Amino acid sequence: MSQLDLVVIGSGPGGYVCAIKAAQLGLKVALVEKDPNLGGTCLNIGCIPSKALLHSTEVFAHAQHGRKHGVVGGDKLTIDVAAMMANKDKVVSQLRGGVKTLVSKRGIEIVPGLGRLGGAGKVVVRSDKGERVLEARNVVIATGSVPVELPFMKFDGETVISSDQGIALPKVPDRMVVVGGGAIGLELGSVWARLGAQVTVVEMLATVGGPALDPDVAKAAQKAFEAQGIKFELGAKVTGVKKSAAGHALTAERDGKVLEFPADRILVAVGRKANTTGLGAAEAGLKTDDRGRIVIDDHYRTNLPGVHAIGDVVVGPMLAHKAEEEGVAVAELIAGKAGHVNYGAIPGVIYTEPEVANVGLSETEAQAKGIEVRVGKFALQANGRAIATDATAGLVKVVACAKTDKVLGVQMVAKGASEMIAAACAHIEYGGSAEDIARTCFAHPTLSESFKEAAMAVSKSSIHSL
Ligand code: NAI
Repeated sequence: MSQLDLVVIGSGPGGYVCAIKAAQLGLKVALVEKDPNLGGTCLNIGCIPSKALLHSTEVFAHAQHGRKHGVVGGDKLTIDVAAMMANKDKVVSQLRGGVKTLVSKRGIEIVPGLGRLGGAGKVVVRSDKGERVLEARNVVIATGSVPVELPFMKFDGETVISSDQGIALPKVPDRMVVVGGGAIGLELGSVWARLGAQVTVVEMLATVGGPALDPDVAKAAQKAFEAQGIKFELGAKVTGVKKSAAGHALTAERDGKVLEFPADRILVAVGRKANTTGLGAAEAGLKTDDRGRIVIDDHYRTNLPGVHAIGDVVVGPMLAHKAEEEGVAVAELIAGKAGHVNYGAIPGVIYTEPEVANVGLSETEAQAKGIEVRVGKFALQANGRAIATDATAGLVKVVACAKTDKVLGVQMVAKGASEMIAAACAHIEYGGSAEDIARTCFAHPTLSESFKEAAMAVSKSSIHSL
């Protein structure tokens, strides 16, 4: 291959989107991937398979609890785990095919193998066929992240598992303990709880959903999950795994007291870390920070000339859509155009039932920045569509600047919040005010009207709450 304009290492949502955008802008691009399929963590072992499992288990849960709708016999239903996994695999396979087609049809060469920085303008790709050297004016590293392992309880793939195994268990465990009440813990905990596992989430913080989640929203979400049978042990510090004749138990400590949680499976979901394995970062002199993330400037440039980095391997939330936005921006910058990501308008979603979604600043974050805020809240239990569709759990909260009424952030726990948050993202992107939302016409009856009502509540003018 003659000199390329760009080599992208890693084909997750950051990498493949970057490659496509660069090709659209006329660059000659190669995409290096070590795994047999394109799509990275998100498509193969993360966002997509977990969403398929969440959907399957939601169907199961709805059918089981359908009596009040006249659906009889739900209490006799059983789950065929193998069929559920086969459906998940089919979804993943369809999307893998889609990504491969999108990439290939744009003239991007897919180079299988492990990519390593090979000195100025060079990427060495090693596969079972040997080594090949790619020469390029620019390199984008989009090598993603891997699950964090607790040093005192390493993954064994059987009892102590990561999300990689948590999406592929062959049968429903009787007792599952989830370490970490963040996005992965809540999503996969929900999957197995819906199928009958007794799920206990052990979390070191006092609230679920991660430290940045608004406490009102975190509390409402926890209440909804508890109603589904998930148990929470908050403020508990995990200490290890105990093995006895009776089986395994997770041990933890709270206020000086030792706690023990018997478990067939212990799913550790305490975060992910940047993946630079095999990249030859140290040999190449690539600068990383104290958490192993590649250091970049505001144009995604690393300390090595022509080498850029995006997505989970750099600073910021480890989210597929954040990586995609960065992929587009870095391709534009490399092509000599303006590339930009608005980090103040990146939504976060936990795809449970109800879903948890947020964008922009929470009330606490705004106050910590010294901004005086006005807050509007609306409970889903006062929304007509919610009452008609068993979706009354949750609330929407709008945080606006007290002086200008500009919307600073929106947090919600609601059925379908992942879709509802899109309107909030658009309003924040355009710099809209709470009054702008209040004066926007939302279809009736929709759950989204809760967002409009919360915006009205900022100026105490909600129609459907007192
Ligand atoms: P997370 O950072 O979302 O949550 C980890 C939780 O574990 C935190 O609440 C933390 O306080 C707790 N924790 C940490 N150490 C602990 C310990 N020793 N004992 C008890 N609790 C402990 O991480 P998670 O859920 O593993 O997800 C990893 C990454 O993947 C995150 O950045 C997340 O945003 C992303 N992700 C996003 C999804 C989405 O957007 N829906 C879905 C899955 C993952």
